[in-house]
Amino acid sequence: MIRICENHLKPFVQEHELEYLATQLALAFDNVTEKTGPGNDFLGWVDLPINYDEEEFDRIIYAAERIRSQSDVLLVVGIGGSYLGARAVIEALNPTFRKPDDLEIIFAGHQISGDYLAELLDYLEDKDVSLNVISKSGTTTEPAIAFRILREFMEKKYGEMSTERIFITTDKERGALKELANQVGYETFVVPDDVGGRYSVLTAVGLLPIAAAGISIKELMQGAAEQRELALNFDLEDNVILRYAGWRNILLRRGYDTEILVNYEPGLMFFNEWWKQLYGESEGKDGKGLFPAGVNFTSDLHSMGQFIQDGKRNLFETVLDFKQTRKEIYIPGDEQNLDELNYLTGKSLQEVNRTALQGVMLAHEDGGTPTIRLELDRLDVKHLGALIYFFEFACGISGYLLGVNPFNQPGVEAYKRNMFALLGKPGYEELTKELEQRL
Ligand code: PA5
Repeated sequence: MIRICENHLKPFVQEHELEYLATQLALAFDNVTEKTGPGNDFLGWVDLPINYDEEEFDRIIYAAERIRSQSDVLLVVGIGGSYLGARAVIEALNPTFRKPDDLEIIFAGHQISGDYLAELLDYLEDKDVSLNVISKSGTTTEPAIAFRILREFMEKKYGEMSTERIFITTDKERGALKELANQVGYETFVVPDDVGGRYSVLTAVGLLPIAAAGISIKELMQGAAEQRELALNFDLEDNVILRYAGWRNILLRRGYDTEILVNYEPGLMFFNEWWKQLYGESEGKDGKGLFPAGVNFTSDLHSMGQFIQDGKRNLFETVLDFKQTRKEIYIPGDEQNLDELNYLTGKSLQEVNRTALQGVMLAHEDGGTPTIRLELDRLDVKHLGALIYFFEFACGISGYLLGVNPFNQPGVEAYKRNMFALLGKPGYEELTKELEQRL
């Protein structure tokens, strides 16, 4: 389903390097599949495509239908792992320009911008709205603030009926959101205990918004399940996930400490963002890690392209190459040919785009940037499900190869403590004084 092309990587590495890494890859593989590594409480995502709560899955489909029939807009409130997966899949698969009757999905709570929320409230004034708030902990500041404001808006607009329009995705027992849901009677969906935020797109966290967007979550899970089958076979020749995880680790050891995920479809911009979070939070700790960056080509060839071709030589690229995308369009002929484009007459844009991809890989190879190309037949829901699983599995393996716990994120707490202290949250008084002096 996903093929790995190493032609433009091979000038920079030697085949035996992957063979020499086999023992370490086998250990990392066992850490993931046998749940023997650090963070092993959070490996629920490994079996998720074949082992999920079917009753809840049906409820998600039913709730999604209700949302679609009763709303112009679905507000999805969440941040980080409770946000990026849904946005990545929806933007990758749904048309860029929606029809007036299509449900509009709007994300909120993924930053603290007052302009954004105030303008959103104005925009929602004459719309029918449903809201899905997503937070595993139930206490994350950004979505909690947005939800407080948006819940007030929903209650003013719909009174008691707002209960029918608010859906909560959170821990099955604990946290402020669960308590609120119990009190008010909102329908709830579960973030499983053993699945961390950035690995949660195939739980209700991602599935409810994705289903509400009209995308088949059954096919998404099928694609992931097919990739899982392939992932679980430890064979260095055939297992593309192991090869990807191995090569990126080898490149890091050789000094290529920045990996750039490259796409050629604007709809994949948020797939890059999802991937950046997955790898950034999983690997970037204990002073280690590859820095995950993302570019959208060919747009960014006219900005970041210069650096990738010619700047500091510490970069490698992982390119997403979809042979077929959602639509096809052909270049017309023109009698005058003032733009001298007649040599392209009859060619599809996809053909031109993929030719750009090939030209770029060759140029970057000449400039000293290795490329790992991941080839997929189509940009559709099944292949996206497979790609999600591919990157999740590779991320777990990569983290263990690096010697870190790929499933915690201790580093994200530091800014929160400072923000709470500076905002005067009770219990932070000492830190408030200390930080104010430093400021
Ligand atoms: O990957 C993670 O664990 C984080 O990015 C979280 O998803 C993010 O901080 C949001 O947390 P929560 O779902 O508890 O609001």
